Amino acid sequence: MFSPGEFFDTHSERYSYANPLKHDVFFVDFMKKNGSGHSLLDIGGGGGAFAKYCKSIFPDADICVVDPSKELLQKQNAHGIKRVVGSLPDDINVASAYHYIAMKVVLHHVVGTSIRESKDLVKKSILAAKSKLDDGGYVFIREIYYESYLIPTFTRTIIFYLLRLQNRLKLKIPHDDFISGLEVCFYTRDEIESMIRECNLEIVESLHDEYDPGAGGRVMLLKRRGTASYILRPRAIPS
Ligand SMILES: C[S@@+](CC[C@H](N)C(=O)[O-])C[C@H]1O[C@@H](n2cnc3c(N)ncnc32)[C@H](O)[C@@H]1O
Repeated sequence: MFSPGEFFDTHSERYSYANPLKHDVFFVDFMKKNGSGHSLLDIGGGGGAFAKYCKSIFPDADICVVDPSKELLQKQNAHGIKRVVGSLPDDINVASAYHYIAMKVVLHHVVGTSIRESKDLVKKSILAAKSKLDDGGYVFIREIYYESYLIPTFTRTIIFYLLRLQNRLKLKIPHDDFISGLEVCFYTRDEIESMIRECNLEIVESLHDEYDPGAGGRVMLLKRRGTASYILRPRAIPS
């Protein structure tokens, strides 16, 4: 079973960044526009770059980062930001409600033993996060998407099972992104958006950012990959 705490403790350097990225600005611009009590829970907030950026813009905000990696949490040494060891879907480990809840580039790490089980865990994670929202609050999701020619889910399925095989057989696939011990389940945007809808959230705004599939991707029939950022709120009338 994939243990995110152990994996991200070992690879904390690779998974931390210092400066705000385009999607961080997208989320913060929405917070500026929307106002009303800037409390933020950043689940899988890792090294705390987004939390620190928010704190610099909203110094009075109540900000908390939850992450399974103690190494990543220790990196942030920022005043006024709470740090909690916890993980999706069952152990968020915070009691209070927040106005904004972010899960940025986290959900593809919440994996089970099959793609179906991974999707169930992602939905459970989104619902767990949603349960910590205050009235009128918003969820921010940023996810990596992989979309293939012919069968849109083809490349991510290959990646999911190759990583599992690499770990089970203690092999090393000769590619930088196939890190030993890593397990991920990427999704197409259709899949991400349908999981969002199944959790009774609606999309308020989105930002899509595409990057080159690369030679390795093209070999695996990859047509598009990138990240999709969503600002979501609970649907007024659940379906
Ligand atoms: C790719 S990094 C993204 C970090 C940060 N959110 C960002 O936007 O750059 C993935 C983060 O998700 C965290 N993570 C992995 N599995 C998790 C889980 N089950 N629950 C919560 N966080 C998790 C990792 O420890 C890591 O900090």
